[in-house]
Amino acid sequence: MANSNRAQFSSRLGFILAAAGSAVGLGNIWGFPTQAASNGGAVFLITYLVMVFVLAYPLLVAELTIGRYGASNPIRSLISVAPKQKALGSAVGIAGLLGASGILSFYAIVAGWFFGFLIGPVLSAIGLESAAAWLEGFSLERNLILMGVFMLLTIMVVKNGVADGIEKWSSRLMPVLFVLFIVMVVYTLTQPGAIDGLKMYLVPDTSHFSPDLMVSAMGQAFFSLSIGVCTMMVYGSYLRKDANLPKTAAQVALVDTGVAFVAGLLILPAMFVAQKNGVQIYNDAGALIDGDTLVFSVLPAMFDTMGFAGIIIGVAFFALMVIAALTSSISMLEVPVSCACEELKKDRKTVVWWIGGAISLFSALIIFNFNTMFGLVITVTTEYMQPILGLIMALIAGWIWNRNQVLEELSQGYPEFGQSKFWKVWPAYVRIVCPILMAMVFLWPMIK
Ligand code: PHE
Repeated sequence: MANSNRAQFSSRLGFILAAAGSAVGLGNIWGFPTQAASNGGAVFLITYLVMVFVLAYPLLVAELTIGRYGASNPIRSLISVAPKQKALGSAVGIAGLLGASGILSFYAIVAGWFFGFLIGPVLSAIGLESAAAWLEGFSLERNLILMGVFMLLTIMVVKNGVADGIEKWSSRLMPVLFVLFIVMVVYTLTQPGAIDGLKMYLVPDTSHFSPDLMVSAMGQAFFSLSIGVCTMMVYGSYLRKDANLPKTAAQVALVDTGVAFVAGLLILPAMFVAQKNGVQIYNDAGALIDGDTLVFSVLPAMFDTMGFAGIIIGVAFFALMVIAALTSSISMLEVPVSCACEELKKDRKTVVWWIGGAISLFSALIIFNFNTMFGLVITVTTEYMQPILGLIMALIAGWIWNRNQVLEELSQGYPEFGQSKFWKVWPAYVRIVCPILMAMVFLWPMIK
């Protein structure tokens, strides 16, 4: 299968950083803490961890394995593991590329907001107060322009291909993100009020548990691990054969979950620190004010308490958010781009502009119809498309793909794989247990 001229990640670490770069993004630092805060804290955290471990990780292995075996774009890779069901492979590949594009269309809007909060404080420090207020406010023009800037950044990286674009930037940017994050958590936890947030985050109150919460936690787990929309499949296709897939997938999942956990340690306590400083975080009915933009009111309020250091840390934080978003958005754009380059035999540099342009137009449509479309696109892509497509990929790996080929592919980079516990459990697990579990999660809220 392998095509020797095809681009590859240049090292195993480069791959892990790129795949972790795809996984770690707004989902960890904006999505997870916001959802945890609105869904009872610890109960959401625990449900989320169970979802990652029990459902998302096994499916991540399936998606990566299909990608590495196919060593091609996702449509081709899916067809190569199910040659007799060509239509199924193409349909799942196309649905995946539409899903990845849909996710990018709302992702670029949120990443744009972070961009505004990065530039805003710098402008206000040099006296351009009204420009700063415009960047941090919520207007149609501001949302459009910032989204456009972020899409442009994404296009520029993807234009340069795998090793020179994606790998190089992910490897440089991810380590910086980790260090800054730890510094911020340590500072936040020493502030007055932080302990209330910590309690909410770590001490479960089971009255918050509901079947709907399980669907949200499942969607969040799939979103965070970038599963189901062929991003991991396309990254897997650039992975060298000497990498041990279950182990690599576990490393990616651990890094991703670790960052989400630490983001919760930062944001939930920061909410209460902000509240102590006079920021309103709950409305009169006791609900969190405007979940989506929570992070944008809470964090700047906390940076304000830090004096001059706060300005620097604030700028660094929002810069890193843009970076984390960028290492994810490039993986989304790579899905349709790799399909179009290889299927239509077109040049990457041209294709990137066309596809990036089309997705930007769709983003603009969302911005014009923000109240109706924004939440809807998020729900459809992350709560439905990602889990369902992820499951279909696992079912293809479990039921359709020739078992010897699966074993052979997974044994590359891990010669004793056939004797491992993983191999004893995983095939039956993705064939039978995963579909049952997922059906339960989806059906439970309907029958309650
Ligand atoms: N995992 C990314 C995040 O947490 C989002 C993402 C979803 C990336 C799907 C690629 C595909 O922000």
